[in-house]
Amino acid sequence: MILVTGATGRVGFHLLEQLSDADVPATAMVRVEARAGDLPSGVQHVVGTLDGPPSADVLRGFDEVFLLSPVLEQQPELEIGFLDALVTAGQRPHVVKLAADGFQDPECEVGFMRNHRLIARHLDGLDLPTTYLAPTLYMENLLHAADILRTEATLPVPAGQGRVGLVAASDVAAVAAHTLTTEGHEDRLYTVTGPESLGMSDVAARISAVFASTVDYEDVPPERFRERLEAHGLDSWYVDSLLALFDWVRQGAEDTVTDEVRKASDDDPRPLDDWLSELRGAFVGRPDEAPVPQL
Ligand SMILES: NC(=O)c1ccc[n+]([C@@H]2O[C@H](COP(=O)([O-])OP(=O)(O)OC[C@H]3O[C@@H](n4cnc5c(N)ncnc54)[C@H](OP(=O)(O)O)[C@@H]3O)[C@@H](O)[C@H]2O)c1
Repeated sequence: MILVTGATGRVGFHLLEQLSDADVPATAMVRVEARAGDLPSGVQHVVGTLDGPPSADVLRGFDEVFLLSPVLEQQPELEIGFLDALVTAGQRPHVVKLAADGFQDPECEVGFMRNHRLIARHLDGLDLPTTYLAPTLYMENLLHAADILRTEATLPVPAGQGRVGLVAASDVAAVAAHTLTTEGHEDRLYTVTGPESLGMSDVAARISAVFASTVDYEDVPPERFRERLEAHGLDSWYVDSLLALFDWVRQGAEDTVTDEVRKASDDDPRPLDDWLSELRGAFVGRPDEAPVPQL
């Protein structure tokens, strides 16, 4: 049986939908019973958290675990605690760990990636059958910029001329589903990207074309970006990590395109235009709060 953590999040939800569509039984872990109502219909669940896992008896029921936690400074403690609980329960499942492209590079000092590297070091030490998924940036990050796109008609991020193989969360889920349901993925690392690598001016041009409303890319100086983030009360670890991420992007380190989605799903990864068209409603609604300039 497959256990899906992060089940109510962006990747986890798509993963459960895809497993359910393929009639593959899976169990979602939700933090509170009430969240079970937000899962795709018919999906079974257990209540638990990474830092308060289900009982050893329950954990022994899973031979495949999809491990995902939210972006937090405490991410290593969450995932390491959960992995230790599995092993202490006497269970040695195949773990499919969702990381982030760059975590595998010891030179990458972006906080998000460093956290995944710490978790991976611990996971490797447990000697479980393991697969790492390392996506580039999600298209879904653009939703954070929806209000600012609408109110200021700019995409203001410090990405320079850096290009990114932006990927849809549903395509990350497709690679996860394939990895959890077919053989031969142990001790592998898959870098998961969309179909093309885009600079932020390309992204602004796609947004302009799909929404028939001009949006410009503004390559804001990092310090001005920091001020905007801090003004919105984001914590210092997150702000530092986001600044470091854009520096990483500016260096060209996310200028990557792989064919992992096609290999996993026999389908092409979603182009940005497609994704934008589907999410149009989320971008053109009325702003109900001050714009938060994240990506
Ligand atoms: N954003 C990107 O561009 C990007 C790119 C590459 C990799 N990643 C990686 O993707 C991961 C995030 O994936 P996502 O965007 O799909 O997640 P997400 O939408 O942020 O959802 C996070 C999930 O984790 C659950 N959760 C929160 N705290 C928990 C806890 N203590 N115990 C158990 N579950 C908990 C949430 O449950 P509730 O719904 O109950 O809160 C939710 O299901 C991160 O590890 C990040 O580094 C992100």
